[in-house]
Amino acid sequence: MVITIAGGGSTFTAGIVKSIALRREELEVDEIRLFDINKERQDKVAVVVDWVLHKELNTDIKLVVTTDVQQAYTDTSFVFAQMRVGGYAMREQDEKIPLRHGCVGQETCGCGGMAYGMRTIFPMIKLIDDVEKYAKKDYWILNYSNPAAIVSEACRKLRPKARIINICDMPIAIIDVVAAAMGIQNKKEIVYDYFGLNHFGWFTSIQYHGEDLMPKLRAYIKENKILLPESYLKGMGALTSSSSQNRHTKGSWYYVWKGEYEIMENFPEYLPNTYLNYYLQAKEFVEHSDPNHTRANEVEETREKNLFDGIDHYLKTGEVDANTFYAGSHGDWIADLSAALKNDTKARFLIITENRGAIPNMPYDAMVELPAYIGKNGPEVIARDNIPLFQQGLMMQQLNSEKLLVEGCVEGSYEKVLQAFTLNKTVPSMSVAKAILDDMIEANKGYWPELH
Ligand code: G6P
Ligand code: MN
Repeated sequence: MVITIAGGGSTFTAGIVKSIALRREELEVDEIRLFDINKERQDKVAVVVDWVLHKELNTDIKLVVTTDVQQAYTDTSFVFAQMRVGGYAMREQDEKIPLRHGCVGQETCGCGGMAYGMRTIFPMIKLIDDVEKYAKKDYWILNYSNPAAIVSEACRKLRPKARIINICDMPIAIIDVVAAAMGIQNKKEIVYDYFGLNHFGWFTSIQYHGEDLMPKLRAYIKENKILLPESYLKGMGALTSSSSQNRHTKGSWYYVWKGEYEIMENFPEYLPNTYLNYYLQAKEFVEHSDPNHTRANEVEETREKNLFDGIDHYLKTGEVDANTFYAGSHGDWIADLSAALKNDTKARFLIITENRGAIPNMPYDAMVELPAYIGKNGPEVIARDNIPLFQQGLMMQQLNSEKLLVEGCVEGSYEKVLQAFTLNKTVPSMSVAKAILDDMIEANKGYWPELH
């Protein structure tokens, strides 16, 4: 079986390949292909991938590194899609332009997320078409390209038949933190319920061996005034690659974990996704942001630098500092997800999927994030009851903003895109929306569809 990683030049690729290789029996994988449009970057990352596959784990999995779509996708069974259109240079613009106008500047939320969405929609559609053309008929695309909410809405609208599952690691990262805070080793035995849109949702229950952890968790957050446990703050948590020395304890990430406490002080019933901070505490986020130094800069100075320095060092000396080679922990469950699809395990995962009545008081065609059992025919989504008005209202505003953005892109409509920006909760008025949009049109020349 062949697995293709689209966006092979990502800093996360080595960790993902390692997770695949560790499950090589289950997945029966004999070939891994890296595909990227940036040859130089991918060739460097491939050095590490080769080391992981053939030195560290000593497997006989074949590695193919290519910039050619036909070679990348021919007869492939799984495509792990992780494209970052415009790279970190454009992420920086997404974060800095809104901040200059006093609004949240973030990779996937607010205007930054919408800008990134407008760059990513059509490359993602092209990816689907390429895969359809060359891959095995029963292929699966596991897509975690951001902004997942907007990207998945575009895929639903434009390629409804594609065999694609959109996923995000944030809820799992939160469960990792919950497990550490509650002293639970076996985090895979935690069962949770959750509803929302991507980067816009809530845990409604978290159970371990049948025990409801929510009361303990509320007490923990109240006492510590942050969700991150000591072990994380000391830089030892499961989310860390030692290279980034626990990214979640630093800079902008630190604030969103602290924000969990602030939100829970007012609305203690459900545990919010960390990303809700950008909407519910937009003003505070802007106040503690530095418009000249944002998360994109932090990443470039840490995860990016460590990896590429580590590769250079390896090439010069033959010495490996494996710590610099691995970032992120999401490879594990992405590989688990592909194993569930392949082996029909019906394991439970959180996925982004068309609602189709699963949340009765959200539109039928909303792309929502819900738990599902995963088997060879795809997800069987777990339906729930109506959701409360507060969450439903927030979600409807966000959903309609995302839908208008996708419609605006497809139709090339300036008016609809401006409506999307104006409707977003992070934007205080129409004139601010327009000023940000106009700056973003300039910055995204060559990436965005033309708007009329
Ligand atoms: C989480 C989210 C991803 C996002 C990432 C950014 O994992 O689920 O969607 O891309 O954080 O992390 P970074 O370290 O690049 O800011
Ligand atoms: Mn995500």
